[in-house]
Amino acid sequence: MQKDLSNYRKSYQKSELLEGSIDGNPMQQFQKWFYEVEDANGMDEPNAMTVSTMGVDGFPKSRVVLMKKFAYDGFVFYTNYESEKGNAIAQNPNICLSFFWPVLERQVIVKGQAVKIAPNLSDGYFESRPQGSKLSAIASKQSKTIANRELLEERLKQLEQDFKGKEILRPEHWGGYLVKPVEIEFWQGRPNRLHDRIRYALQDDLEWKIERLQP
Ligand SMILES: Cc1cc2nc3c(=O)[nH]c(=O)nc-3n(C[C@H](O)[C@H](O)[C@H](O)COP(=O)(O)O)c2cc1C
Repeated sequence: MQKDLSNYRKSYQKSELLEGSIDGNPMQQFQKWFYEVEDANGMDEPNAMTVSTMGVDGFPKSRVVLMKKFAYDGFVFYTNYESEKGNAIAQNPNICLSFFWPVLERQVIVKGQAVKIAPNLSDGYFESRPQGSKLSAIASKQSKTIANRELLEERLKQLEQDFKGKEILRPEHWGGYLVKPVEIEFWQGRPNRLHDRIRYALQDDLEWKIERLQP
């Protein structure tokens, strides 16, 4: 079985990324791009990002999660602290985030350190979630195996009964990570594969060094 994809060829020409028009702070630049992607419409979940970790088994692994906040100090997502990614982060907090926004032919790649956010902040976000999501966070031992789906559904049904009319508090194994960036690369597709790549790297004096990379 094989499929030849050598004819898949697209010219990128929607935008450009030039030193004269970028922000000196990468989070400001990220915000600018994020708003433009939101405004461009036609992109579902622009906050979906790929999180790559170095696993305890020695293999890197990537998976998509939803960014729930960004600010000067970094990017926040929520997950199960005892999941495969949670265990990987506990062993090596250096992780990579990447966004692919085909609507504007853009990619952003972040290297940074993941730290658990304060419990009260995780509580606050957990509180805002729909009841079903709250119960699923309790029901699912994320990344562990289970014999079949029915067991999960039974577990959820049982929890629905147990928590009827009661407040559902955040389980300790579930919460947010803040990814504090040390390097952020902005990639803008350009014609003839001569793409724009601008990298911001955090220096010892906490200033951001800005350099252009070859495509
Ligand atoms: C669009 C999308 C959004 C997702 N958002 C989250 C999320 O915010 N948090 C999360 O833990 N998993 C999310 N997932 C599921 C993860 O990709 C992954 O399956 C899960 O976190 C378990 O990963 P792990 O076993 O490597 O730890 C999302 C998946 C997709 C496709």
